[in-house]
Amino acid sequence: MIKKFKAYVSSHMKYVLGVDLGTSAVKVILVNQKGEIKGEATREYPLSHPAPGFSEQNAEDWVTGTLQSIKEIMDSGIVDATDIEGLSFSGQMHGLVLIDEKGTPLRPAILWNDVRTTAQCRQIEAALGDELYDSLKNKALEGFTLPKILWVKENEPEVFAKAVKFLLPKDYLSYRLTGAIAMEVSDASGTLLFDMASASWSQSVCEKLDINFDLCPPLVQSIDQVGTILPEIAATTGLSTETKVFAGGADNAAGALGAGNIADGIGVCSIGTSGVFSAFEATGDQDYKGALQYHSHSVPGAYYVMGVTLAAGNAMNWFKSTFAADQSFADMLANVGIIKPGSNGLIFTPYIAGERTPHVDPLIRGSFIGMSATHTFDHFARSVMEGITFSLRDSLEILRTVGKKEINKIISIGGGAKNEDWLQMQADIFNTTIVKLTSEQGPALGSAIIAAMGCEWFDSFEACTDAFIGYEKEFTPIPENVAVYEEAYHVYTQVYDQTKELNEQLHPLR
Ligand code: XUL
Repeated sequence: MIKKFKAYVSSHMKYVLGVDLGTSAVKVILVNQKGEIKGEATREYPLSHPAPGFSEQNAEDWVTGTLQSIKEIMDSGIVDATDIEGLSFSGQMHGLVLIDEKGTPLRPAILWNDVRTTAQCRQIEAALGDELYDSLKNKALEGFTLPKILWVKENEPEVFAKAVKFLLPKDYLSYRLTGAIAMEVSDASGTLLFDMASASWSQSVCEKLDINFDLCPPLVQSIDQVGTILPEIAATTGLSTETKVFAGGADNAAGALGAGNIADGIGVCSIGTSGVFSAFEATGDQDYKGALQYHSHSVPGAYYVMGVTLAAGNAMNWFKSTFAADQSFADMLANVGIIKPGSNGLIFTPYIAGERTPHVDPLIRGSFIGMSATHTFDHFARSVMEGITFSLRDSLEILRTVGKKEINKIISIGGGAKNEDWLQMQADIFNTTIVKLTSEQGPALGSAIIAAMGCEWFDSFEACTDAFIGYEKEFTPIPENVAVYEEAYHVYTQVYDQTKELNEQLHPLR
């Protein structure tokens, strides 16, 4: 599809808004036609854990946080509402929002990091067999949406009976801004109801698991316009009702796009609440047999694969709030650069909330292995960073061995890209050059790129990423550190098997 290039022919500068609906906060950025970030606002919201392994959020909090963030940008007076041509989203993946006939959520949203659905995953495997890998291209993972739908159906039948549609977090937000119900394909491909080859809902999966096909919303592509801003939303935020709203992308697809990863050979290491190692796939027919997640990209017609560490930034947050609550992150990590690679034989596994890649295991828990009286707070802080990075290397190894991919460069985004010690550590543990972006906006920039493409500012995603993304600095592997990390990683990879049974025995005590 060739679209007309409008970016610099317009005499008057135009803008888009990128809305990144994350797990701990929503972030909104205002971006002009040159890709410059001209405004930013964020609002946090709570996460609730009503039972062990449960993770829920109130969908209304997403809407309130988004509207307040947009209003903050509009109130700052940096832009006229009529100059905001488009808005789009990136969103936390997999979360289940069930709505009734009035469009009202029937219960709190069940999130990607909720692991209550092990029984439903086994049910899906028994019902679908090879169809899981052949058609859906993914394992039945606790975090995905279909197991959550089955859980509600089984445990809250009176709620399920009232459900007319299911939506994912950013698609619900899009519905509230526009009044239009739709689901975008990069997110739909994380539901386990989406047939990758035909890029459509799987009638067969719905039948085999007794799910009413009508629950599935209409599918759209990332840059499709779903609507315009509703009058009441315009009144609350200061936006114009003329602003076009485009469908957006799953946060990992938008994160890869916002890092410019739209071609083979480059990896993206994203350390947010979860940690993700992803790589571009031109086609949807590689056979990873579920060893990595396989999803549609936010570049229409393209795909990506990824491995997920459930607690990456989350493990860092846990460590800080438990052992250094009164310090800032910068203070807490101030001395990690003095500690030698390998933290003098201290190894951390970040399985504090169970794990996904490469070990799908909701019962596994983290460990510090090798503690001695010589270890200080700084050794522990460094080993937490190393353990998170080892876990992401597990996904890189699958890409290299199963996917036969050559990854020559890795773009680092998220919390892991904010600390230079951590960036060098990534280069040393992955034994690959790490690139840091000039202005790291994560998935929010991906959502702004989607909005810019929807507005037809550029004739290709390449032209848009070239204009919007800058690369600031490279970190190259240091051979002696690489050698130490090879040894430490070899030990790290054995900790899962050696602690699995112990953690199962500990489970009743939790
Ligand atoms: C990906 C996943 C997480 C969420 C975080 O499968 O579950 O990375 O997308 O928002």
